[in-house]
Amino acid sequence: MKREHEFGRQTLETAIPPRPAPPAWDVGGSLDEAKLLDTQRAFDSVAADYDGPRGNNELIQRMRSTVWDSVCRELPSGGSLLDLGCGTGLDALEFARRGYQVVATDWSPQMVARTQVRAAAAGMEARVATEHLGIQQLDRLDDSFDGIYSNFGPLNCAPDLHVVAAECARLLRPGGRLMFSVIGRICPWELVHYVLRGRWRRAGVRAARGATAVGMNRHTIWTFYYTPREFYRAFAAHFELTSYRALGLFLPPPYLVDYYRRHRRYCAGLGWLDDRLGALPLLRGMGDHFLIVMRRR
Ligand SMILES: C[S@@+](CC[C@H](N)C(=O)[O-])C[C@H]1O[C@@H](n2cnc3c(N)ncnc32)[C@H](O)[C@@H]1O
Repeated sequence: MKREHEFGRQTLETAIPPRPAPPAWDVGGSLDEAKLLDTQRAFDSVAADYDGPRGNNELIQRMRSTVWDSVCRELPSGGSLLDLGCGTGLDALEFARRGYQVVATDWSPQMVARTQVRAAAAGMEARVATEHLGIQQLDRLDDSFDGIYSNFGPLNCAPDLHVVAAECARLLRPGGRLMFSVIGRICPWELVHYVLRGRWRRAGVRAARGATAVGMNRHTIWTFYYTPREFYRAFAAHFELTSYRALGLFLPPPYLVDYYRRHRRYCAGLGWLDDRLGALPLLRGMGDHFLIVMRRR
């Protein structure tokens, strides 16, 4: 079986048959070490150009700036931030420039190396510390932070969100914030795009329960999909839900950036709708990603 899928900002090819689906209630079931290493190898293999034009396109940048604004609204400059799945360090460097102290972590050593180089090139090593650390290894950290953020889906690769929630609660000061952008389950654009092309299986990929094999660069990323409610459930014991909103609901998903470029004026209107309506009840539960903000109890 050959499927295509998009993880965050990359166009992906899935050639791996999914494992038998776990029961419908098993959202966020566990991943073994071998699968975590699959995901690590996948991201290592693309780290060199992951912030290039293909990866960091206009649609990604638009969502990224919504996340930046949200983090800055939630926490005053000067605070300490932990970045989970920092990738090449675009967010960590931006927050360092805005006056925050950032510890940037990632499960891919190649991504961590890219972040280190970026911080050094910007003369920001005093503000950005890097650590090769998976989200499943947060027990190895003992700092305390004002906020923890994660952008564009690293938490979709985490083996157990309940453990992540407990570790985040331990690492955050009272009243500290979690700000995560997560790949969502309900993306109407994607559904319509693939249904119109008769690609029913691809259209339904986000409906999968449990870890789904997603191909990238001939490697595999093991991915869980969530609605905001499913996601929050794992955090509810330690965190209040502050807000959530859609990212990329009216605008096409980032892998359809060519469509966006061909229809810029029309898409400017869609972007306006995203900004104005993306936080409304019902609509906020959809989109390519969602941005969720939680406060430590
Ligand atoms: C789509 S990229 C997003 C990168 C970055 N946050 C950004 O906004 O550009 C996903 C990142 O999550 C990282 N990742 C995947 N699984 C992870 C895990 N278990 N723990 C920590 N990072 C992980 C990958 O290495 C990759 O850098």
